[in-house]
Amino acid sequence: MLNFSFQNQTRIHFGQGQISAVTNEIPLDAKVLVTYGGGSIKNNGVYDQVVNALKDHTWFEFSGIEPNPKYDTLMKAQAVIKEHGIDYLLAVGGGSVADGTKFIAAAALFEGDDPWDILVKQQKIESALPIGVILTLPATGSETNTNAVVTRDGNKLPFSSPVVRPQFAVLDPAVTLSLSDRQISNGVVDAFIHTMEQYLTYSVNGKVQDRFAEGLLQTLIEEGPKALQPESKDDLEVRANIMWSATMALNGLIGAGVPQDWSTHMIGHELTGSYGIDHARTLSIVLPAVMKVCQKAKHGKLLQYAQRIWQINTGSEDQQIVQAIKMTEDFFQRMGMPIRLSDVKLGEADIDLLLAKLESHGMLELGENKAISLAVSRQILTAAL
Ligand code: NZQ
Ligand code: ZN
Repeated sequence: MLNFSFQNQTRIHFGQGQISAVTNEIPLDAKVLVTYGGGSIKNNGVYDQVVNALKDHTWFEFSGIEPNPKYDTLMKAQAVIKEHGIDYLLAVGGGSVADGTKFIAAAALFEGDDPWDILVKQQKIESALPIGVILTLPATGSETNTNAVVTRDGNKLPFSSPVVRPQFAVLDPAVTLSLSDRQISNGVVDAFIHTMEQYLTYSVNGKVQDRFAEGLLQTLIEEGPKALQPESKDDLEVRANIMWSATMALNGLIGAGVPQDWSTHMIGHELTGSYGIDHARTLSIVLPAVMKVCQKAKHGKLLQYAQRIWQINTGSEDQQIVQAIKMTEDFFQRMGMPIRLSDVKLGEADIDLLLAKLESHGMLELGENKAISLAVSRQILTAAL
């Protein structure tokens, strides 16, 4: 196992009715800005619960944070923060609202020349406004982690800092009942692939991390399809297991002390940045291709994955791996996800643009071994055709 330091101080309030915990989480003398997206929270009762929880607080609101949050939108919140002396942010939504709010929090106290430098120059952030999150879409893990992704002019750029980790997160599975099938699928598959990015590398004998990751993968395979089936769609236990899996998949725990890959995400970000494809739907296209192209480097873990996740124990090692990749693709398709570029109407002619974007973003040595050069990324995108 590799050395690591691990701390995740986000306090989690999990379960039905827990939005009321916000009342005691945010100091009564705080000036709060409630941030949210396109309005789903007004249709599913979440907004009303927030209003109730904050009835004794002073608060304002900032809406319109779009999926794949845009830099220009987020910068508009700065005027509201200045005008009202905001000193606490409450994000209510999915990963985009949580991520966008992290950027708003960092930009508000940024001492450099231009907050865009946080993303484009990866300039270090010293402080940020405190954040709480009410999560409405289990997927990204943003509610308890230090990461955020922001888009500007087709460039989708991540940043990470401990100062933007939320102070608390409310996870109420009941608020996920209003999600569309597409968003449920996106969430399950995003969480699955977060787990894979920290698992499918090479073994360092991290038995705890491996078994935790395998538990998450199996839970998502079991529960994900149930959240789409009419007879189990509204089952709160299914939703609870998906929600907790998604948080655990990217709260830092399973990735501590083991190598990590993240090439699927970095290539996927270019597909979203250039063509607007939903984040998770880029991943379900790229991951199977990464598994195929990097089969040699990932051989040991792919075999472990085949045997422990899909119970494949017959045939040669390579045959078991090929079958496991096929079963992964079948799972994504059962979840209604695309698995090829052609499924989203892209083809060979689009690969050059994607490679140029990867190059301009410095994505030249991806993967756990830094072995995914632009040439290998081309092989991956070609395998995804
Ligand atoms: O905007 P509203 O009206 O809220 O609607 C949203 C949005 O249209 C809707 N939605 C959310 N909760 C709902 C709901 N609709 C009905 N009922 C509910 N309970 O769902 C749509 C998609 O929301 P979004 O927040 O964009 O989805 P997701 O949570 O998948 O977030 C994706 C973003 O997170 C980034 C992605 O790149 C993308 O920008 N990621 C962040 C990560 C992190 N911070 O660690 C890691 C991830 O790998 C990912 O990159
Ligand atoms: Zn993701």
